[in-house]
Amino acid sequence: MNQGSRRMRLLAFCGAIVLVIAYFLFTPPSVDNTAVISSSDDAIARGAYLVNAGGCVSCHLAVNDDGSTNSAILSGGHALVTDFGTFFAPNITPDVDTGIGNWRAQDFLRALQHGRSPEGSFYFPAFPYRAYAGLNDQDVLDIGAYLLSLDPVSNVVPEHETPWWLSRFALVGWNLLADLTGGDAPELIAGQEESPLIERGAYLARNLGHCGECHTPRNKLGISQLAQEFAGAQIGEERIEAIDSAALADWDRSSFDLFLLLGMKPDADFVGGDMSDVIEHNTSRLTDADRLALAAFFTR
Ligand code: HEC
Ligand code: HEC
Repeated sequence: MNQGSRRMRLLAFCGAIVLVIAYFLFTPPSVDNTAVISSSDDAIARGAYLVNAGGCVSCHLAVNDDGSTNSAILSGGHALVTDFGTFFAPNITPDVDTGIGNWRAQDFLRALQHGRSPEGSFYFPAFPYRAYAGLNDQDVLDIGAYLLSLDPVSNVVPEHETPWWLSRFALVGWNLLADLTGGDAPELIAGQEESPLIERGAYLARNLGHCGECHTPRNKLGISQLAQEFAGAQIGEERIEAIDSAALADWDRSSFDLFLLLGMKPDADFVGGDMSDVIEHNTSRLTDADRLALAAFFTR
């Protein structure tokens, strides 16, 4: 074989590998094709509860003309200021033109579990999809049922303001890096007596409630370091407290439970900042059983 054709073969071989890798990175993730969104009252009621437990309102709430917010409407526009730009939470009411009126079951599964849009593009992680990735299909579908049952609101939200180097394309690499370098959250203690309760608490804390999005440290690329889960974080100027077992040594189940309901700490101080939003829109609306599960997980 002469030099030229050997080089051509090598090139073709490398090209084929690049194509295969690109195919795996860019093709939309496969999700259950048979899934459908129910319009039953039951599914809608479960979805309404999950939207509270998932803290969706804290970001997707409506912004009035005078800049005040309206947490009864999920038409978006609220600005999320991050180290990587300012992101405006979209309109997730079922308005066909400006919201998600056309969404099907598969769109909800791809968005929440994989961070991918119906067109196959990549969402910015200002949308905490890496936490929601652990949601089970049924919960995602019920969330969809609730969102599609809302009154459609026409509202165009502003474009995100991101630095020039940050594109949706870059997120292919970011997601891969996060998979490779984010580490794993500590295992739950095997065989623990109350493991169903603690597993439910872990699902609420790690996935639906995405407590780690604020409380787990990130590296310079904004990738959560799961091996140091809940060890506290720096977001811009703000230092966010640790809520791992060392930090919560003075808390017991009932004080944690009361905190989730009222925002009051064991020293009778009330929590402030973004956490008061989390209490208002999320944890105070949980059932007694789910609050107990979260308390059991954090004080285990
Ligand atoms: C921390 C803020 C935050 C929370 C909490 C949050 N979102 Fe979002 N969400 C965003 C942002 C920001 C985007 C836009 C991402 C982008 O454009 O890449 C988004 C995008 C979406 C989209 C895609 C909309 C579209 O038009 O493409 C859906 C659907 C969605 N979120 C639903 C939810 C649901 C359901 C929950 C609760 C389980 C939730 N979000 C919680 C910030 C948030
Ligand atoms: C949007 C960001 C954000 C999310 C999400 C979040 N927190 Fe917080 N949390 C904070 C901030 C900020 C503080 C500190 C508030 C202050 O300065 O008073 C805090 C404080 C706390 C404290 C008090 C710690 C102490 O020692 O005073 C606890 C406990 C806590 N959070 C638990 C949780 C749990 C449980 C979840 C998930 C259900 C959660 N947080 C989700 C931002 C967040």
